[in-house]
Amino acid sequence: MSAHHQESPDEPIIAFKDVALGYGELTVLEGITANVRPGQVVALMGGSGSGKTTLLRAATGQIRARAGTLHLFGHDMAHARGEQLRALRQRMGVLFQQGALFTDLNVFENVAFPLREHTRVSESQITQRVLDKLDAVGLRAAAHLQVSEISGGMARRVALARAIVLEPELILYDEPFAGLDPISLGVTARLIRELTNRLGCASVLITHDVAESFAIADHVYMVGEGTMIASGAPNELTASRDPLVRQFLDGAPDGPIAFHYPMSRAFERWLDQHKGRS
Ligand SMILES: Nc1ncnc2c1ncn2[C@@H]1O[C@H](COP(=O)(O)OP(=O)(O)OP(=O)(O)O)[C@@H](O)[C@H]1O
Ligand SMILES: [Mg+2]
Repeated sequence: MSAHHQESPDEPIIAFKDVALGYGELTVLEGITANVRPGQVVALMGGSGSGKTTLLRAATGQIRARAGTLHLFGHDMAHARGEQLRALRQRMGVLFQQGALFTDLNVFENVAFPLREHTRVSESQITQRVLDKLDAVGLRAAAHLQVSEISGGMARRVALARAIVLEPELILYDEPFAGLDPISLGVTARLIRELTNRLGCASVLITHDVAESFAIADHVYMVGEGTMIASGAPNELTASRDPLVRQFLDGAPDGPIAFHYPMSRAFERWLDQHKGRS
């Protein structure tokens, strides 16, 4: 009982409050405040290296906040470890950016894996649920194929089916549209929206695809310059005059967002050593 006592229907599933995140001496993001509520599709946008995947890692408890607080399902992630962290993770589905499939299993068994791992449902239930999820991503008739026999875009869709097979309360998608053709992309975007509505779960979607994500998102967060640069409904961002937001939405190469990875002491040290060798 105690594991669930803080939860109420309106409470955010994810709540970042003035959070800082980083690795070693690198601070990636600071001052991050964001909420994700049940039933919402939230798009997370920002340039390459801006810290989107890092935010997802914090939400899954792979890294901890260096400042501020992060609550997941009402639980303070600063203290979540071991069995409690496992229990929280079981309530979420994650489509990682490098959504590696098990290459020694066929398509069906890849999607069946979380069911076998975390539930005790019957074999006929597994067959039904897996084929249902594969059908949703258009790959029912590919169930028997080996991973080596499918294309990159098909592999993304299998990974998506696997992320949703447990019908979790929170689904985190790191670039679910990467490598998809325009038809699969549109279908996948609608699938994410429909699934969120049907399950009443929350979906967080990292993507660079403005048109498709704005069409399905309730809220958009944009990170850049080491912090949150915009937060609002899609139409609010579309109307924004902020140069950072405009540059991102318009895809302009020149603007306040730098294309280049920033210079650092670590790079200069490496370059000195590297030059010293030639
Ligand atoms: N495990 C790690 N150790 C050290 N630095 C890391 C690690 N992972 C990411 N970084 C650094 O953190 C910053 C943010 O990386 P992150 O992967 O969150 O970016 P991103 O917004 O997801 O980019 P992309 O759109 O290219 O996937 C980058 O500067 C990256 O070099
Ligand atoms: Mg990333």
